[in-house]
Amino acid sequence: MVSGLSKAFGPVRAVDDLSFEVEPGVITGFLGPNGSGKTTTLRMLLGLISPDSGSATIGGRGYSARTRPNSDIGAVLDAAGFHPARTGRNHLRVYCTVNGYPPSRADEVLALVGLAESGKRAVRGYSLGMRQRLALATALLGDPAVLVLDEPANGLDPEGIVWMRELLRHLADEGRTVLVSSHVLSEVQQLVDHVVIINRGRLVQQSTLVALAEASSRVAVRTPDVEQLRAALDRAGAHVEQSKPDSLQVTGLTVAEVGHHAFAAGVELHGLAAEHGELERMFFALTADTEQQPETMSGRVR
Ligand SMILES: Nc1ncnc2c1ncn2[C@@H]1O[C@H](COP(=O)(O)OP(=O)(O)OP(=O)(O)O)[C@@H](O)[C@H]1O
Ligand SMILES: [Mg+2]
Repeated sequence: MVSGLSKAFGPVRAVDDLSFEVEPGVITGFLGPNGSGKTTTLRMLLGLISPDSGSATIGGRGYSARTRPNSDIGAVLDAAGFHPARTGRNHLRVYCTVNGYPPSRADEVLALVGLAESGKRAVRGYSLGMRQRLALATALLGDPAVLVLDEPANGLDPEGIVWMRELLRHLADEGRTVLVSSHVLSEVQQLVDHVVIINRGRLVQQSTLVALAEASSRVAVRTPDVEQLRAALDRAGAHVEQSKPDSLQVTGLTVAEVGHHAFAAGVELHGLAAEHGELERMFFALTADTEQQPETMSGRVR
């Protein structure tokens, strides 16, 4: 849980009065463009840097107030920093020793992340995707209830992303809290249930992915009476754009609602269809580099 969190680096307000909540049992995507403050927020959540104001807590406590933080929270902020000459397995065994886990735990997590074989090789020969897997294995060593991953899909091939999705889904289904950051919505779109979207350190959206998809989908409607339909939809609070002389694109209403308003206004329709696949457009609109959010995006998603 993040509440009123702020952090500035000199003149840069990296995180600016940010508040959001993350629930157990679901995968939450923490999204924002490069430099929007994701890593800075996660670093505060993990007690690596201290906030200027506000708080970032997990289960009501700050990370540094925990006695055994590794068992409560598993985190990957950076899939680098492995000793290049060590094997993946040895890397994990060092962590086991430091944290008091049995050495057999290293092999368990290697199997979990699909590195059972490669674990015997030196890390210097690992691809970026393999490093991501090893980092994830490290985070899972303590069987944590909360998993925090910074850009975990970065460097994974499509197959790796599918694998990651299944693993994270499994972990969330066990009731764990899973928070994954990304600067590309499309990369985690298949992965997350909830989204927290930030821009310039500020919250711009917190909702389920389904709600975001609904809000970003448009309805295409064709009518011989464009003006009258436009007036009716405007009255209903929709955002309406004319795409062709006889067609409108409507944001903020469902297909059924558009049909209903047309019917109520006595407007003849020649076509009515939902347009999907607009999530990425929504993400760009939400994180566009302006102070003002587009009117179609405000107050529509809960
Ligand atoms: N240690 C630091 N010193 C100075 N400025 C910093 C420091 N860490 C982050 N910043 C600045 O804070 C802002 C937010 O950075 P942050 O790394 O949190 O963004 P991000 O959302 O994780 O970006 P990316 O998607 O590129 O990883 C940026 O403007 C960055 O330059
Ligand atoms: Mg980052």
